[in-house]
Amino acid sequence: MATSSPTLFSPPSLSHLFTFLLCLSFTHLTPCQSSSSSTVSFVYGGCSQLKYSPDDAAYAANLHSLLTALLNSATYSSYNHFTVVGSSPSAAVHGLYQCRGDLPMPECAACVSHSASRLAGLCPGTCGGVVQLQGCFLKYDNESFFGVEDKDLLFKKCGPPPAGLAPEVMAARDAVLDGLVRGPGLYRVGGSREVQGMAQCVGDLSTGQCQDCVGEAVKQVKMACGNGAPGDVYLGKCYVRYTLGGGRSYFNSNNGYIKNMGVKTFALIIGLLAAIAILIIFLTFLCRTFAGSSK
Ligand SMILES: *[C@@H]1O[C@H](CO)[C@@H](O)[C@H](O)[C@H]1NC(C)=O
Repeated sequence: MATSSPTLFSPPSLSHLFTFLLCLSFTHLTPCQSSSSSTVSFVYGGCSQLKYSPDDAAYAANLHSLLTALLNSATYSSYNHFTVVGSSPSAAVHGLYQCRGDLPMPECAACVSHSASRLAGLCPGTCGGVVQLQGCFLKYDNESFFGVEDKDLLFKKCGPPPAGLAPEVMAARDAVLDGLVRGPGLYRVGGSREVQGMAQCVGDLSTGQCQDCVGEAVKQVKMACGNGAPGDVYLGKCYVRYTLGGGRSYFNSNNGYIKNMGVKTFALIIGLLAAIAILIIFLTFLCRTFAGSSK
């Protein structure tokens, strides 16, 4: 894994983007545009300042074991964390991954595998690294970070205000986002006809920490994006995204508003069937009336 070296990211406007990045321990985050909604497309990545020495075979071996364990786990679970101590406790490495809640297992495993190769290319020889793809998050460090809430802003992106935007749409957006804060679980979706929203926490957070993190992300996305759309805000341990105007969906099937659409279609079919039934009853009644009157 550590030997695979995909292309390094060198966005031209890195210094400009630095102003958005307030990460304390991860010093060279390299965001890039994430216009594709594909599961493995890159959102952001970063590496710790600390490097392990090239002849620290123990750390390299532990890191390799850690990534292998995480990859194996991603075939059956959408979240897991491991610590690999190996022979020397000073070479301990901690890591976790979190797949987006709607990803089926094979896609989760493919995404974590992708992020591991991204990290290998992005952060060769560093003690810590983090990468966020559309479908999954992967992080490792030699300092434990499990269960630690992290609300540092790592990446944000806002679209322009849509033309002819009605004020009700912004109110609906705020309502959907506020619903995400209250919603249960690590993966939250909400939406109406013109707004779609989602939130995802990393699985090591408690319910309260997730609530708090999503609350902060919602506050920041409203503040940062104003009336713009779509809006994305990624904090250290959670993120929030929304789109307006019934545009493309972030999510796979099996989520809130796809279900809503299903319910609408179902209601429409039931309505049609009821109309046909009423028509048949009416026609039968007419036939009987005519048959009766002709006697
Ligand atoms: C992480 O690694 C760096 C560099 O090798 C070291 O200075 C630091 O003490 C390590 N931290 C922990 C918690 O082991």
